[in-house]
Amino acid sequence: MRIFLDTASVQEIRELADLIDGVTTNPSLVAKEGGSFQELLGEICALLPGPVSAEVLSLETEGMVREARELARVADNIVIKIPMTIAGMRAVKQLSAEGIDTNVTLVFSSTQALWAAKCGATYVSPFVGRIDDRAGNGMEVVDDILEVYGNYGYTTEVIVASVRHVRHVVESALLGADIATVPYKVARQLFDHPLTDEGIERFLKDWEKARG
Ligand code: G3P
Repeated sequence: MRIFLDTASVQEIRELADLIDGVTTNPSLVAKEGGSFQELLGEICALLPGPVSAEVLSLETEGMVREARELARVADNIVIKIPMTIAGMRAVKQLSAEGIDTNVTLVFSSTQALWAAKCGATYVSPFVGRIDDRAGNGMEVVDDILEVYGNYGYTTEVIVASVRHVRHVVESALLGADIATVPYKVARQLFDHPLTDEGIERFLKDWEKARG
């Protein structure tokens, strides 16, 4: 399973750029960083070869396609994030015909994911944390999407998004999701285990004791 970082922070991306497989941003994350959107994207895209998702703000198909074409010019590894609406699906169809990669975002059901795949989306992003927040089961939705895609051989890849904790990543991997996009804090936690730290300390102490 590929691991993307869900952040627009250049500092966070730089720290893990050689280990992660891609980056996803959204307007909330970009707004936190300030400055020019295009410049920030250019900086992020230069840090790693993997896909970097950047979201359009327009709600109309024409505006989305226009924004997407502009963003796609920033770098070769840009993927255009399009919200899951009817206007969005028309934009995805158009962009897919132009060879521009898309990531359909704000997906909360398997029927939405089915439309994204039918329209030729490169990626689809079910928001598991936000589903769980409303007492739903985000991972069940991911499971359904994977089954639906498997049934019809859709090549749209599933990015598990709105990841809140390590357990979401474990479950994504167990279900066979293509990608999990994780906040920096969760990305760091994926490496950690207290017994690893304790084990390193004990090995070094034993080495010192025996070898002076
Ligand atoms: O980037 C989209 C998604 O991962 C947002 O997560 O935590 O705001 O629901 P969250």
